[in-house]
Amino acid sequence: MARVFILNGVNLGTLGTRRPEIYGTMTLDDIEKLVRNEFPDLDLEFRQTDFEGEMVGFVREAADSDGLVVNAGAWTHYSYALHDALEAIDVAKVEVHISNVHGREGWRRHSVISPAVDAVVAGMGVFGYVAAVRYVLGGLSGRA
Ligand code: DQA
Repeated sequence: MARVFILNGVNLGTLGTRRPEIYGTMTLDDIEKLVRNEFPDLDLEFRQTDFEGEMVGFVREAADSDGLVVNAGAWTHYSYALHDALEAIDVAKVEVHISNVHGREGWRRHSVISPAVDAVVAGMGVFGYVAAVRYVLGGLSGRA
């Protein structure tokens, strides 16, 4: 059974009520259910934290998994600590953004974590999580 981590960073615990015109109305629990429904046989670790150090710990835990999907929230744009943690683990890694970060404020267009992942999904709404897991399970990153 494939083991995949889905890690959600800062402020993502407020999905459902936070800027619904941008992020939609699904809560993080709804997204977890959606992914579990889509991949019933997956050994899924679905987590959220507002603490950067805790997130780094989660990334390290994923080191011996089959892959990692990360929506780092605003850390995407400035956390070199998260970049370095991601860079240090050799598993399939996908960066996900619910919104199209390239069509929003200029500062959201730059991700400091993108160089440390295999693929980036942005603007597909919550389906981005499903697409990312499919990529990981399909072995599409070319990693062993
Ligand atoms: C986000 C985009 C980020 O710019 C923002 O800070 C978030 C959510 C997204 O899923 O679209 O918190 O990662």
